[in-house]
Amino acid sequence: MKGLILSGGKGTRLRPLTFTQAKQLVPVANKPCLFYGIEALKEAGIEEIGIVVGETKEEIGAAVGDGSRFGVQISYIEQDAPLGLAHAVKISQPFLKDEPFVMYLGDNILKKGIKSLVEEFKTEQPNSMILLTEVPDPHMFGVAELKDGKVINLVEKPKEPKSNLALVGVYMFDSNIFEAVNAIKPSWRNELEITDAIQYLVEHGYKVRPHIVTGWWKDTGKLEDILEANRLILEGMSGKILGIVDETSKINGQVFIEKGVKIKNSTIRGPAIIGEGSEIIDSYVGPFTSIEPRCKILRTEIENSIVLEGSEICDIGSRIDESLIGRGVKIFKCPPKPSVYKFMVGDQSEIVLK
Ligand code: DAU
Repeated sequence: MKGLILSGGKGTRLRPLTFTQAKQLVPVANKPCLFYGIEALKEAGIEEIGIVVGETKEEIGAAVGDGSRFGVQISYIEQDAPLGLAHAVKISQPFLKDEPFVMYLGDNILKKGIKSLVEEFKTEQPNSMILLTEVPDPHMFGVAELKDGKVINLVEKPKEPKSNLALVGVYMFDSNIFEAVNAIKPSWRNELEITDAIQYLVEHGYKVRPHIVTGWWKDTGKLEDILEANRLILEGMSGKILGIVDETSKINGQVFIEKGVKIKNSTIRGPAIIGEGSEIIDSYVGPFTSIEPRCKILRTEIENSIVLEGSEICDIGSRIDESLIGRGVKIFKCPPKPSVYKFMVGDQSEIVLK
């Protein structure tokens, strides 16, 4: 079996971060989201993986390379424009050939991985296996309607969903999917929808097996979802102290402090991760926070947040909460007079002041 990871697209819901970075490389617990997918495929025994890339192909290629660090072989498949998930499958046929494959959306993370699901697909040999989970807001997803345990209808982002069962971003197919992706027409948003291709399989008598996912699943396309994925991954992580913590600092709970980190006169309350070479001085880092390498947190309180590489946050009066701070960002306080705010912020940033 082969793997196909979709890592093209635009990531508009994560701007401004995605003006300068592929959305699949936004880190969750200090690891790019995309790496969770590669590791899940490897764990399921899939070592031949194609990654569909678009505008951010260079960046993705630089982060993933030839796959040897994950013990897999990566081929890159260029998609000229994000014309839909089924379009991505269509252009990947020369790579996939006749082999069954797992399609994994590069911005999805599944807690339990996919090993047992791949085994179920191999044993049962349906033409396709789809993963479903109950969600509170089904209109944001592809939605499946089941009858007597069988898939009868699938609709992409319906205005009036017929169920609360969303399609999770991991799908398994045999080569009959190519007949479907070649037969369907673009949707109202001008994309070839994989949901429509699976509906085609259902209508043409192919066997589509639904599997209800237990354990959490996250599509990290939006800020709230990235923060939640970060919380969920940190919750399952164990602590380790590889850096230097001075005697006036306190470390509580599961905290992963990487090499070269300096913690002075600060409290770190886990679960949290502090990346290589970062400095935390006279500060509080609270639960569910990931600080990437080479950041400086000085006289500041922060929790429930993600801070990307090389950022500096100093002297912030109130606690920072539920924030995603990009790379090389500087946030600091003005002198007391004149009492003003000063900003140099990228397009489509969001700042909330009290
Ligand atoms: O996350 C699950 C949902 O993923 C499903 O419930 C939906 O049925 C499915 O259509 C998909 O919806 P999204 O709106 O979240 O898809 P998105 O545009 O975010 O694309 C998912 C991934 O695929 C993302 O990593 C970008 C990549 N992609 C997307 C398109 C449209 C491509 O590589 N090429 C493309 O043409």
